Amino acid sequence: MIKVEGLTKAFGGNKVLDGVSLEVAAGEVVALMGLSGTGKSVLLLHIVGLMSPDAGKIIVDGDPVTELSESRLLLFRRKVGYLFQDSALYDFMTVGENLAFPLKEHTRLKPVDIRAKVDAHLKMVDLAGSADTFPSELSGGMRKRAALARALIMNVKVLLCDEPTSGLDPIRSRDISQLIRDLSKKAGCATVVTTHDMLNAFRIADRAFVLNQGKLAAQGTETEVRGSSDPFVKEFLAG
Ligand SMILES: Nc1ncnc2c1ncn2[C@@H]1O[C@H](COP(=O)(O)OP(=O)(O)O)[C@@H](O)[C@H]1O
Ligand SMILES: [Mg+2]
Repeated sequence: MIKVEGLTKAFGGNKVLDGVSLEVAAGEVVALMGLSGTGKSVLLLHIVGLMSPDAGKIIVDGDPVTELSESRLLLFRRKVGYLFQDSALYDFMTVGENLAFPLKEHTRLKPVDIRAKVDAHLKMVDLAGSADTFPSELSGGMRKRAALARALIMNVKVLLCDEPTSGLDPIRSRDISQLIRDLSKKAGCATVVTTHDMLNAFRIADRAFVLNQGKLAAQGTETEVRGSSDPFVKEFLAG
């Protein structure tokens, strides 16, 4: 579903990604780990076509993301749910309006059907009854869940979550991790979750990738990553 080949990106003299290749299958959840500033967010932005690479190729659901025109990119992005680090809900809209927004913009669903879909998605993230509240009235964990519901509401094929547990306490981190995994699996999405939170990475993901100095220092199942002989990976896992 997601295929990244030889992705290379530098900002000025700072080579952030240096020939990164990875694949994520439909229905698979992977974690992208690494220290802060190693290019995890930059990699996600490339997958959704919000950044273009210096070299390399990305194909998502058959679309050559790195070669699409701006207008094709807009269409392509409807297949991708993006959970931004800061949730990025619109503060001036209620939670229900936030969820309805992509449906109003991109579908011809009737208002009554939009409302039903919004309610169903709020229920899925355990926020039934929160449609008429404003994001500012919600806790951090609730905002994350609302943003997750919005990211999934277009029946996306790909879900990208940028540091979903950052700023949350351990219990809420565990809950949102579990929810991301459950909903991704239910929807059959190819899901990439960036995190520097090892515990939750392995909770969420079928496989993990460890990014260091522009390259993947380790990849595989929890056992495989934990068994890595790469000095950085060993130090990283030791915390
Ligand atoms: N738009 C940009 N312009 C210049 N440098 C950037 C830009 N976006 C990210 N960077 C740099 O790329 C590196 C990786 O950033 P990022 O992907 O945000 O790290 P991570 O998400 O792993 O914490 C950082 O050094 C950051 O300063
Ligand atoms: Mg980041």
